[in-house]
Amino acid sequence: MSKLRVESFAVSIDGFSAGPNQDLQNPLGVRGPELMGWVFPTRMFQKMFGQGEGETGIDNGMAEQGFEGIGAWILGRNMFGPVRGPWPDESWKGWWGEEPPYHTQVFVLTHHPRAPLKMKGGTEFRFVTEGIHSALEQAKKAAGGKDVRLGGGAATVRQYLRAGLVDELHLAVRPVLMGAGEPLWQGIDMHALGYECWKQVAGERATHVFLRKRA
Ligand SMILES: NC(=O)c1ccc[n+]([C@@H]2O[C@H](COP(=O)([O-])OP(=O)(O)OC[C@H]3O[C@@H](n4cnc5c(N)ncnc54)[C@H](OP(=O)(O)O)[C@@H]3O)[C@@H](O)[C@H]2O)c1
Repeated sequence: MSKLRVESFAVSIDGFSAGPNQDLQNPLGVRGPELMGWVFPTRMFQKMFGQGEGETGIDNGMAEQGFEGIGAWILGRNMFGPVRGPWPDESWKGWWGEEPPYHTQVFVLTHHPRAPLKMKGGTEFRFVTEGIHSALEQAKKAAGGKDVRLGGGAATVRQYLRAGLVDELHLAVRPVLMGAGEPLWQGIDMHALGYECWKQVAGERATHVFLRKRA
């Protein structure tokens, strides 16, 4: 059965998944790149966005497995970009250039309607204003039996967790203190929601923790 998976989701040791004050110069918020320090050197990331070959260690394996078996994505509007409020025009097309790394339909949660946006390489952004259940229903249909990846950010992941809709989470826990930013766990009691940590793997630059629903 098609699952809803959170993969390679970086979180600081004090529970933040992005730095504060996101803008065009700081897509991950101020000091946000410290959260992603585990993924930048990997082969997965370098092949997607960089020039070099990248590293092929444990962190890379973790990053690569997050793309396996994925047939559609769900993102929050702030992960898609820094534009807030009603879309002033159609010019913002995501952080990722003409060919984003999704290659599937991507359902972007927003309160502000916008026409679908087709990109090179099979990515199509579809803007969903009817809430998380509608986005998941549409994403599962688009995924055609494959899994749906919940890309984030934190506000979006929190909503799906609270609704008990996330089947699996892979967190990349980073040994950094953000102090401020987007909190992953705010208002969430993961134990009461029925989750357990069932595996941990020490990577080169992050500890990978896997959560799932208790049997
Ligand atoms: N740590 C990681 O691995 C990781 C992964 C992904 C992203 N990030 C970072 O996280 C940050 C973004 O996270 P975030 O928590 O600020 O925001 P987010 O979850 O990306 O987006 C939140 C926005 O999405 C829209 N939205 C969310 N739920 C909705 C609903 N049910 N109905 C309608 N619209 C809804 C709203 O926008 P509107 O009301 O404006 O339409 C809301 O303000 C970015 O800096 C990004 O780079 C980190």
